[in-house]
Amino acid sequence: MARFIDELKRTHRCGELREEMIDQEVVVFGWVHSRRDHGGCIFIDLRDKTGLVQVVFEPSVDQRIFELADAARSQWVLGIAGKVRDRGEMRNDKLDTGAVEIVAAEATVFNRSETPPFEIEDGIETGEDKRLQYRYLDLRRPEVQKTMLARSQMMAITREHFVSEDFVELETPFMLKYTPGGARNFLVPSRLQPGAFYALAESPQLFKQLLMVAGYDKYFQIVRCFRDEDPRIDRQPEFTQIDVEMSFVNEDDIFGTIERLLVAMFKRVLGVDITEHYPGGKLPRMGFEESMRRFGNDKPDLRFGLEHTDLTELVCQHDGGGVPFFAPIADKFKSGEYRFDLPEEIVKALVIPASANFSRADGDKLEKYVRSMGAGGLARAKVGDDGAWTQSPLTKMIDDGLRVAINEAVGAKPGDIICFQSGPTDRVHTIMANLRVHIAKRMGLIPESGSGGEWNLLWIVDPPLFERGENGKGWVAAHHPFTRPHDSCLELLASDPGKVLCHRYDVVLNGFEIGGGSIRLHDPEVQQKVFAAVGLSQEEAEQKFGFLLEALRYGAPPHGGIAIGMDRLSMLLTESETIRDVIPFPKTQRFNDLLTGAPAAVDAEQLLELHVATIKRD
Ligand code: AMO
Repeated sequence: MARFIDELKRTHRCGELREEMIDQEVVVFGWVHSRRDHGGCIFIDLRDKTGLVQVVFEPSVDQRIFELADAARSQWVLGIAGKVRDRGEMRNDKLDTGAVEIVAAEATVFNRSETPPFEIEDGIETGEDKRLQYRYLDLRRPEVQKTMLARSQMMAITREHFVSEDFVELETPFMLKYTPGGARNFLVPSRLQPGAFYALAESPQLFKQLLMVAGYDKYFQIVRCFRDEDPRIDRQPEFTQIDVEMSFVNEDDIFGTIERLLVAMFKRVLGVDITEHYPGGKLPRMGFEESMRRFGNDKPDLRFGLEHTDLTELVCQHDGGGVPFFAPIADKFKSGEYRFDLPEEIVKALVIPASANFSRADGDKLEKYVRSMGAGGLARAKVGDDGAWTQSPLTKMIDDGLRVAINEAVGAKPGDIICFQSGPTDRVHTIMANLRVHIAKRMGLIPESGSGGEWNLLWIVDPPLFERGENGKGWVAAHHPFTRPHDSCLELLASDPGKVLCHRYDVVLNGFEIGGGSIRLHDPEVQQKVFAAVGLSQEEAEQKFGFLLEALRYGAPPHGGIAIGMDRLSMLLTESETIRDVIPFPKTQRFNDLLTGAPAAVDAEQLLELHVATIKRD
């Protein structure tokens, strides 16, 4: 043992040994992956994060180390010194190191291992909870190591990219003052100031803007963010952003730097040249309105079609066409209350093509799926050879005029199934957007998870600045009130806020929002109008955003930025199923850390010291 590490330094990683090294003396360190006794000869596959190599122990070389190999078990940590030998006929072409083996001349056991609770191998069936409880063993598995190394590479590429483009990397605080709005914050009680709390930063947003006021011009940070949101497959309570802010720029400048980063990432992590698809690395842009209309959300997956058709106008023109659930919208239209430019309710259709061969039972399953999203049901009809509708209660209800018009609008062909959804705009969009992806997976147009080797990237631009407040009343900032409205919309700020578009953008990869940002508002006059539109007085605004508003009065340059979700991007590039797979120590769906047991109760004394009492709610 003493000779290893101090004298016998590692010469190679296990996965590096190749034919060219035959007859070389090498020293490798690693974990016992497997051990085979071939009567008179013991073979150990030794593994480290680069792969594995076969080590041979022959009693004729040294009886002591032969006995050591005989005793060794899975996951013991060994040091081996020996000569690389040609495996000749016995070569294993499935292994990178398969042409050679090491004949052990010296060996040591650095440490033994208890029997692990699951196999340290790829493709195991062990439940995620168990793997997360022993995450350090899960992290030792080759496929997980590959993912982690890809993530590390992405971090390195990010730093190289931004440094080469003259950005400065500066840190911003995690412990801040709580400000309302945005995601729900985690709170940290102050020991020194009884009853006061810090909020954990949901992003460095306000601070990166302050850095622009301070003249740092181009900032980036690979930064942890904390949000107490409802869990989803692409959400974690603590996650990592590639955070960026730039001065004296427009959208094109910001898009450019992100596009160059993405080109480098795809090239170096996956060996994929996205410029073949997107000349010059320039990603296509789609207006928010178009995206909502065609796909029902602002993160469309364009690897497949299945576009939506908005039928609201047709339904209104045909006075509801005899369909009871179309009637409320038609009635609104008749009484002149309906606004096509800002629709509160809509009717949408989605066609499942005949080629999908969906049966009635499949339709029932779809209905169950949409009900799980809160839909009342899924009206649908099959199109017959003559364009008549069959297999549907709609057959008896709908006027021929509307039926023919709908067939034409959706381009229906015999055997197609038309699905309908009507009601509040947001709900219809969400249900139909999810249904679109669900059907695409059922039809095999996209894989259940992963890319299928296809990478679809785009920018979604020009969304509205405001959305309806609670209960459909008033207006609130859709993102945050420091987003710059389009100059052409300034007049509308007072007269028709819902129609104001702004310089906000998201970047989308295969149906996931991987990043978002905006050009910020630095003009106090326009800022005031924005506050007025959301019903915020100057005093209230000062109370809420005091220090930022103050800073913006001290010579704030025009600026804008973006944040890319590092975890989401890693999840997609490594074709992982969930965001948890790409985070070294993730939380579960319920946001538990099964390894350390967080969150956990603390004792009364600690709470006392923090001036905190807990209340049990029934
Ligand atoms: P936004 O809130 O859109 O913007 O976040 C940017 C990106 O961060 C990722 N993301 C998440 N990833 C994992 N788990 C979460 N809970 C989570 N929440 C967000 C997404 C998202 O696109 N300060 C602004 C950026 C800006 O305007 O410059 C911001 O945070 O990929």
